[in-house]
Amino acid sequence: MKVRVATCLTLPEVDVDAEPLRQALGRGGFDPQWLAWDDPSVDWDAPGATIIRSTWNYSLHVDAFVEWIERVSKAGPLFNPAEVITTNCFKRYLLELAQRGVPVVPTTVVERGASSDEVLAALAELEAARFVVKPEVGGGSLGTKVFTDGEHAEARAHLTDLVTRGAALVQPYLASVEDYGERSLVYIDGELSHAIRKAPRFAGDAESITGPFPIADDERDVAEAALAPYGALLYGRVDLARDPGGIPRIMELELVEPSLFFAHEPGSADRYVAGLRNRLQTR
Ligand SMILES: Nc1ncnc2c1ncn2[C@@H]1O[C@H](COP(=O)(O)OP(=O)(O)O)[C@@H](O)[C@H]1O
Ligand SMILES: [Mg+2]
Repeated sequence: MKVRVATCLTLPEVDVDAEPLRQALGRGGFDPQWLAWDDPSVDWDAPGATIIRSTWNYSLHVDAFVEWIERVSKAGPLFNPAEVITTNCFKRYLLELAQRGVPVVPTTVVERGASSDEVLAALAELEAARFVVKPEVGGGSLGTKVFTDGEHAEARAHLTDLVTRGAALVQPYLASVEDYGERSLVYIDGELSHAIRKAPRFAGDAESITGPFPIADDERDVAEAALAPYGALLYGRVDLARDPGGIPRIMELELVEPSLFFAHEPGSADRYVAGLRNRLQTR
């Protein structure tokens, strides 16, 4: 069975899942074609199924990416589905999660083109000794910076710069990322598969992960509340950090192109491939 695996022309970092996935697809009888979403020579209108793996530059070209999503999803089944991807590209989904009662990192959205008064107001509202300013559409910590209470001028300059290009988010800094760590819960074929710990990462840092780690019940509850409306997705990742009161809060719901850290959990890539096969056969 043929399947297109979407990557990008220039990967900003190595995709550690590429090789385990390639091998599992082979074991599962798939004939994968690895193609870049941003390669103009690829005919994405040709009929076929597509899985998104490492389209990691999309945040720099989000309008083109959303158009591409619409295009490939017309050509055949897409995983995750188009409507899941296109809303998940924009981190204001955190506000929607909060409205549903899911604990998220407290988030203020500052819209693209915000006035200097609006920028000031978003920062003035903060009561945190440290806070984070980041683009609404982002990945790989690009444009994500942490500031202290004494650095409002620098924060204002960064936020002002971000909102010339898109919306931005302001959040209190959750210091638990430094010791307990940010925890990523990986879901495959609708089931919790494994969890890893990520070291804090800001603009310019490399990714550093360890695990698998045991999954705390309260983390699992939050992740499952976030994912509940989606049913069984082929893949997804829920990134959590604990607040000063110890409550796990969603930092990111990753349904577009998350690293799934297959190598940390034997059998996980095969379960992904089995889930893919079931989805393609029951269509
Ligand atoms: N509110 C926050 N508190 C503590 N650390 C944060 C916060 N926001 C972001 N970070 C750090 O920055 C990294 C990147 O932010 P994230 O929202 O996950 O965006 P992305 O992974 O899409 O670039 C996180 O993995 C974490 O290390
Ligand atoms: Mg992240």
